[in-house]
Amino acid sequence: MKVQGTHYRSIWYDHKDCQVKIIDQRWLPHDFRIVALTNLDEFAVAIRDMWVRGAPLIGATAAYGVAISLNSDASDSGLKNTYDTLIETRPTAINLKWALDRLLRALGQVSQEERASKALKLAHLVAEEDVGINKKIGEHGLEIVKKIASNKPAGEPVRMLTHCNAGWPATVDWGTATSPMYHAHEAGIPIHVWVDETRPRNQGAMTAWELESHGISNTYITDNAGGHLMQKGLVDMVIVGTDRTTAQGDVCNKIGTYLKALAARDNNVPFYVALPSPTIDWTISDGLADIPIEERAAREVTHIFGHHEKNSIEEIRVTSEGVSGGNPAFDVTPNRLVTGLITERGVSDASEKALAKMFPDLAGF
Ligand code: MRU
Repeated sequence: MKVQGTHYRSIWYDHKDCQVKIIDQRWLPHDFRIVALTNLDEFAVAIRDMWVRGAPLIGATAAYGVAISLNSDASDSGLKNTYDTLIETRPTAINLKWALDRLLRALGQVSQEERASKALKLAHLVAEEDVGINKKIGEHGLEIVKKIASNKPAGEPVRMLTHCNAGWPATVDWGTATSPMYHAHEAGIPIHVWVDETRPRNQGAMTAWELESHGISNTYITDNAGGHLMQKGLVDMVIVGTDRTTAQGDVCNKIGTYLKALAARDNNVPFYVALPSPTIDWTISDGLADIPIEERAAREVTHIFGHHEKNSIEEIRVTSEGVSGGNPAFDVTPNRLVTGLITERGVSDASEKALAKMFPDLAGF
């Protein structure tokens, strides 16, 4: 998507200097910094420390990480070390394992000499596929937005609430939850987005930034405001992303998503999840029992990053000194609270039967 008029993806291969480039998201939305990732350690740090983030982008970054790492060691042990290093970086988003397994399977079948170039081709493919999937999610989500718009007085915006950043920076392009927003905007349907700030890391600030850059009307709200807005009838639909969705449709996403789903149910607001198929974990069915929830540093809670009026990006402590913080980064929304899963193949009920019907070629693998 565009940043100040220039089209960017969140990760790309620069053919001029043969390097993988990313937007270092630690500084967004305050500063736009592009960095190159040049070896396995840098890829691991970039994923773990959230220079890149968002389930689909984590998967694509891991794929490029394999390709770059194999440039220096394409032996069996080099491949194993690459896999083991990258898989350890973040535990919740299944796209990481999905991408690494995909590359591992394919690379096991080619000679060591061919591995690095094959891995690079596959990484390009993972990235391209992600863009195509997210575009499709936008097209299917657009139909939902159109339907809601058709039941409102002409010209009144469809008011959507979103949590975290499931936008283009979290994917290779388009975003998942934001793709229907972009498609609706392009189709001339007026929308307004309530953007949850999403403490502790405030990914919502990134969502507000990207929507703002595209001229989409939005309001940045505290995480606790959503329930109130729904009670007041100010939200027509909730749409969020996901880091891992089980075969039966339980949705693991950024911490706080579950509370939004509860409030949505209590207020008869439809709760949709934008779900690319690589984010489905077909091997598990009970989200609460089976999905590992990342526990991040307490400092992310006790401190906060922001833009100082003197034009610097600074971290300040929110609590008194020595207070201990707890920081579970994701939660699980049970399938019973999900109105629909917007996938690249269409909108599915959040149930084992419906998902298996939508993806007969993937279910069970
Ligand atoms: O911790 P993050 O910023 O990687 O978490 C991101 C989310 O929870 C997103 O909603 C999810 O990955 C979907 S991104 C299309």
